Amino acid sequence: MDSLAAVDWTAYQDEALAAIGSALSEAELDDARVKYLGRKSALAQALRGVRDRESGMLLNGVRSKLEEAVAAREAELARLAYELAAEAGVDVTIPGTPVTRGHLHLLTQIRREIEDIFLGMGYEVWDGNEVATVWENFDALTSDPGHPSRSQFDTFYIDQNTVLRTHTSPDQIRAMQTRKPPIYMVSPGRCYRRDTPDATHSPIFLQVECLAVDRGITLADLQGTVLKFFRALFGEEREVRMRTSFFPFTEPSVEFDVTCFICGGEGCATCKHSGWIEMGGAGWVDPDVFRNVGIDPDEYQGFAFGFGIERIAMLRHGLPDLRAFWENDLRVLGQF
Ligand code: DAH
Repeated sequence: MDSLAAVDWTAYQDEALAAIGSALSEAELDDARVKYLGRKSALAQALRGVRDRESGMLLNGVRSKLEEAVAAREAELARLAYELAAEAGVDVTIPGTPVTRGHLHLLTQIRREIEDIFLGMGYEVWDGNEVATVWENFDALTSDPGHPSRSQFDTFYIDQNTVLRTHTSPDQIRAMQTRKPPIYMVSPGRCYRRDTPDATHSPIFLQVECLAVDRGITLADLQGTVLKFFRALFGEEREVRMRTSFFPFTEPSVEFDVTCFICGGEGCATCKHSGWIEMGGAGWVDPDVFRNVGIDPDEYQGFAFGFGIERIAMLRHGLPDLRAFWENDLRVLGQF
């Protein structure tokens, strides 16, 4: 009780309130709180020694006053900090602007992935021309002169002898005209057809062409290359199968299917319950095509394929409509 008697609690309280009220920073405020309210303060020690109700009420009264003063000063200091920042022209209450980072379009990502896969197999990546002669796009590929795909209703003509390429296959012709075998090339890029846009057609679309010309190439090389390609794109468990087909520039011609990478071959909506997904055309380079570019078909053999890049992207990401790729809605594209 000595300590209680020895202290003038009115003076203690005034001194403490002055210290708290004049604290100019949180650190100064904390120092005052420790000094007048902390465990070692005269107030805390006196409170521990209290035996009678009257002294308890007095000391508890001082304590609550000081605690209130600390809380009030704390709020005031926070407000002063805002005001200072505002004076300096900074409104610290405005939420920050999120920094949005751009990224590559999904089709560009897949195109680059495809390039990497073939670079890894020793292929040259070719940047083909989107403008082709009628000869490169049709004649050299032994397309029938009367075939409807040549008409102005299907193909964009620039003049009588020049078109926007309708597929990446004319790049095979250019490659064989400008390179000596062995040739291992892939050519991804834009193609153009006079199609009305719908969920699976677009007047502008992307294909990737592949051509290998060498001595002693067999159909097994084609199958192995496509298998490696699909496994890199869709997962190591994939299998491929070939079905017979027809293209004017390949003999025999095939179409490739890959085991469904959604259901693993059990059957689902994506593979139309067949367990297989159609990927595109391929074949054995027709000897007439070799003759058209001056390569001796008795000496060299080759395989080729052309697959749609949108189709690969749609299948791999479960997208139902290819128009999403060209509409550039960032809410859609931002998901990839
Ligand atoms: N050019 C064909 C198309 O657009 C696809 C194609 C089929 C390309 C067979 C090839 C091939 O290289 O060998 O439908």
